Amino acid sequence: MIEISHLCKSFGQNIVLNNLNLKVNSGETKVIIGRSGVGKSVLLKNIMGIVQPDAGSIKINGVEVTGLSEKEYNKIRMQMGLVFQGGALFDSMNVEENVAFVLDEFMDLDRQTVRNRVKDSLAMVGLKDVEKMMSSELSGGMRKRVSLARILCMEPQIILYDEPTTGVDPITADAINNLIVELSHKLKVTSIVVTHDMTSAYKIADSMVMLYHGQVIAEGTSEEIKNTKHPVVRQFITGEAEGPITEGENLIFGHAK
Ligand SMILES: Nc1ncnc2c1ncn2[C@@H]1O[C@H](COP(=O)(O)OP(=O)(O)OP(=O)(O)O)[C@@H](O)[C@H]1O
Ligand SMILES: [Mg+2]
Repeated sequence: MIEISHLCKSFGQNIVLNNLNLKVNSGETKVIIGRSGVGKSVLLKNIMGIVQPDAGSIKINGVEVTGLSEKEYNKIRMQMGLVFQGGALFDSMNVEENVAFVLDEFMDLDRQTVRNRVKDSLAMVGLKDVEKMMSSELSGGMRKRVSLARILCMEPQIILYDEPTTGVDPITADAINNLIVELSHKLKVTSIVVTHDMTSAYKIADSMVMLYHGQVIAEGTSEEIKNTKHPVVRQFITGEAEGPITEGENLIFGHAK
């Protein structure tokens, strides 16, 4: 479904993605972990076509998307949604307007259909009667859920989540995790989830990758990552270093690709 090969992205002297390879199968939930600043959000933005890669290939559903025109990319974006780290809602709009924004912009639907889709997608994220609230009045957790609802109403095949549970209480986090799993199972959505939260990661991942120095340094199931002896990964998931960091060490587990 998503195949990334030799992806490179630098900002000036700052090499962020360095020959990164990643494959996400149809219907799979792939979790991406890695320290702050390693390039997780930049990777998602490359997939969405918000950031242009310097080199490499990104194939979505078999289509090479690097180098597509805005118009052509918009067709690809219709199948995809990115839940931004901070929610990326328009504060000057109410919840209904925010959720309906992309529908209104890109789809030719009548008012009532839009209204129903907005209501249904808000219900899916556990929000009711919030349509007329201004975005600026929402709590952090509500903003996350509204931004997810905005994507759900597009009925996408692929959802990219940038830290969907960061900054929300544990119960809301668990509800968001359940929703990610449910969307994957019921609607066969293919998902990439960036998270720092290992409890969430283990719960939702079909497979997990860790980014380090612009590359994938480990890949495996939750169980494999939990039991890894890779020192960099261990240090990340437990907060304890078990040995020195070996530059360029590359351990890919035998998980079915
Ligand atoms: N538009 C940009 N212009 C210049 N540098 C950028 C830009 N976007 C990201 N960067 C840089 O790219 C690097 C990776 O940033 P990114 O936001 O992807 O990190 P991250 O892994 O998502 O971190 P976090 O876990 O804190 O969200 C950082 O050094 C950041 O400063
Ligand atoms: Mg980020």
